[in-house]
Amino acid sequence: MLKTICVCGARPNFMKVAPIVEACARSSEIEVLLVHTGQHYDKNMSRIFFDELELPEPDINLEVGSSSHAAQTAEVMRRFEPVCLEYHPDWVVVVGDVNSTLAAALVAAKLGVSVAHVEAGLRSFDRAMPEEINRVLTDAISNLLFVTERSGLENLKREGIADSKVKFVGNVMIDTVMRHRPRAEASSILERLELAPKGYVMVTLHRPENVDAAGTLTSILRALEVISADQPVAFPMHPRTRGNLTGMGLAGWVSPSANLRIIDPLGYVDFLKLMLDASLVLTDSGGIQEETTILGLPCLTLRDNTERPVTITQGTNRLAGRSTDTIIAAYRAVRAHPPATDHVPELWDGHAADRILTSLLAAD
Ligand code: UD1
Repeated sequence: MLKTICVCGARPNFMKVAPIVEACARSSEIEVLLVHTGQHYDKNMSRIFFDELELPEPDINLEVGSSSHAAQTAEVMRRFEPVCLEYHPDWVVVVGDVNSTLAAALVAAKLGVSVAHVEAGLRSFDRAMPEEINRVLTDAISNLLFVTERSGLENLKREGIADSKVKFVGNVMIDTVMRHRPRAEASSILERLELAPKGYVMVTLHRPENVDAAGTLTSILRALEVISADQPVAFPMHPRTRGNLTGMGLAGWVSPSANLRIIDPLGYVDFLKLMLDASLVLTDSGGIQEETTILGLPCLTLRDNTERPVTITQGTNRLAGRSTDTIIAAYRAVRAHPPATDHVPELWDGHAADRILTSLLAAD
């Protein structure tokens, strides 16, 4: 029996571990301990995803909570080490690029436990992003690297990672989208928000480089104001963004208005429905660039780069920058000429978790 610890901590991790944990549960050859670091802890940033994605209750919650990068990373390490020592896993499986990912990988690597990194090899080449540092370092100490798109293979080769450690398996987030789409179709979120299918824009925004400086945040909000004169904007707001708006004295932006509907973060099912029926999505999230690609929805990414280039070359994504003018220009261009929606990136077929399981069992 292969003993594995699967680690998750922040919202974008939950939809990535769900299909892996499920595939493991179907196998009699692998045993999984599910560890939640507690990086995210609000009900609608964590609990709701366990319920909706049918994830089992975490075996252990490290309850690290929010703090600076160093303190949060260190606290996950300090609390995860005794878990590893007691459970003696053959593998620690980490997903994505959040602080919990790097912290758990580092603990395992130092204890001589093999590390498998799901969503390896993505690179924005922008070290100002905390996630880029987490990605590079996690990949450097992983024993198996599961890649979602071909750019990841090139990036890892360039960094000197042996081909034998790298497996191109596809994208576990897409496994989750495909599995839960029928349930999402039945969500009543549009009625609750009084929105018409394909008659609104959906927005998410949470990256420090977009929401931590008042100037950048204001220029993005100005663009949203212009867009909301064209069609309603539905904006489930991340707690970091809401906290910053209040702290910066910009709370006026979060008061309810008919066309700019700022709401609390949503669970997976309502969020997927809101995305499915949007005419267009504006985001600075990594995962949403991938989800809109598979759903064939135009996506404007409010950044100057992406670590997920296949969403541009094969998908519906386009970089729109972070200034009022570039965002509005990109919005008008996409409204006039919507992107082609007939490409599906290679291996984004709903079976990535099965390939991961096969590789893990073969590696031991
Ligand atoms: C983290 C990840 C980011 C990911 C994002 C998704 C890192 C470096 N960043 O960013 O890659 O895209 O999660 O959400 O790991 N907060 C709450 N409730 C919560 C969690 C957070 O109110 O349940 C607030 C706190 O004020 C906290 C702030 O959000 O200080 C930031 O949380 P943190 O986990 O540090 O980073 P995120 O911005 O969520």
